[in-house]
Amino acid sequence: MKKVNIAVVGATGMVGRTFIKVLEERNLPIDNFYVMASARSAGSKLTFNCKEYTVEELTEHSFDKHIDIALFSAGGSTSAKFAPIAAEHGCIVVDNSAQWRQDPNVPLVVPEVNPEDIKWNKGIIANPNCSTIQAMVALKPLDDKYKIKRVVYSTYQAVSGAGIAGWKDLENGIKGEAPKKFPHPIANNCLPHIDVFLENDYSKEEMKMIWETRKILHNPDMKVTATTVRVPVFNSHSESINVEFENTIDINDIKTLLSNSKGIVVCDDLANNVYPLATDATGKDDVFVGRIRRDESVENGINMWVVADNIRKGAATNAVQIAELIINS
Ligand code: A2P
Repeated sequence: MKKVNIAVVGATGMVGRTFIKVLEERNLPIDNFYVMASARSAGSKLTFNCKEYTVEELTEHSFDKHIDIALFSAGGSTSAKFAPIAAEHGCIVVDNSAQWRQDPNVPLVVPEVNPEDIKWNKGIIANPNCSTIQAMVALKPLDDKYKIKRVVYSTYQAVSGAGIAGWKDLENGIKGEAPKKFPHPIANNCLPHIDVFLENDYSKEEMKMIWETRKILHNPDMKVTATTVRVPVFNSHSESINVEFENTIDINDIKTLLSNSKGIVVCDDLANNVYPLATDATGKDDVFVGRIRRDESVENGINMWVVADNIRKGAATNAVQIAELIINS
């Protein structure tokens, strides 16, 4: 197998550090490895495969050297400026920010769902929003068989999704300190406010779930709505997903379909109180699905509970899986 040069941009952050861990675990064929961040952490050291690497400051010249793939998680404005520079130098950027996700020239990819879309990349591939990724893994096999008519998402999102600052707000909030990242204390609260509010009164996180679902499932008219909520959980996002289908459903077949789908583990044994939990999902790469039941208020609908590690499958693992698709293409 050919060996590639890989850079991690935003390597000191929560997702960046997990990129490094997942690259190590999945044993990608890496020749040269680079870690980049802002001037603030330039010169600090990070370990990859038992070897120390010095963090480089990300600049216009960072991609003058030959880099095949760069995994970016350093915020939207950093991606806006530096992803095109990397792409111009022949590097393929897998970008974890929201910056490029709606660009018609940029594929938005979940490897279990639409791997074929990486083929038309022009140097940038977007990694979807963490909440969208886990929902897509669960919805794709159902859409293929029963054709989705409408989706209602309600999310219960962990503070790690807001980076190190979000994590600290919960940790310090439990001790009674005032929040620095969130607009209200996250300890003992559920905040129906993730990212900024938009003109239609939805939060941007809600609209990301709506726009990204349509793009990934190649259905620009799909009826989708969402309420996204930050909850006092350190890691792993939980989601209630209500789905209505065009075709007549069989609930047992839906359970079998989900059990046999790549990337999904069904945990649904009510007699033994078994259903997906954030604490069980943390540290894993699968999407956990349970509480699968008919929505009795419509003819062909279901409710389900979908949980995944937002930093791994919702960000780093998905991006590394995209890198694997690039290497193997
Ligand atoms: P740094 O540690 O130097 O600030 P998180 O969201 O978990 O806080 O992580 C954000 C990541 O993005 C960090 O690695 C951070 O680096 C990096 N980052 C932020 N701004 C820039 C920038 N302008 N150029 C490069 N990296 C940046």
